[in-house]
Amino acid sequence: MKKIAILNGPNLDRLGLREPEIYGKETLGDLEQALRREFAGKAELLFFQSNHEGELIDQIAQAADSKFAGIVINAAAFTHTSVALRDALLGAHVPAVEVHISNIYRREPFRHHSFTAPACEAVICGLGLEGYHAAVRFLLQR
Ligand code: DQA
Repeated sequence: MKKIAILNGPNLDRLGLREPEIYGKETLGDLEQALRREFAGKAELLFFQSNHEGELIDQIAQAADSKFAGIVINAAAFTHTSVALRDALLGAHVPAVEVHISNIYRREPFRHHSFTAPACEAVICGLGLEGYHAAVRFLLQR
């Protein structure tokens, strides 16, 4: 069965509590449950959230070493700051999809630039949590 890593960056552990008018009322646990339900028997999903850049980098390398078929990454604010995460994705050679819950292009200009997007096959933003489902579907049929 294909292994897919779902990586979430800083403050996404606060989903449901954090700015619900932007990110919604569902928690990261709700998202995990919904993804596990949809992909039961179809994919082996690994969930990882960290508020620390280096831990996300380590997890990307681990996904590469463990021959994951894909990475879904919402690097959150690190998207807009991290050359190190971009390099980790480029070096991993695992197809990745960048997901943002909100439409970053409708928001402040500093969110319009992503360091990580060029290291990904696709970017999904503004679909809410559905973006994660779409990303896993894409990686499985790829
Ligand atoms: C986000 C958008 C980022 O700009 C922000 O820093 C986040 C969440 C999103 O999912 O919409 O933390 O990645």
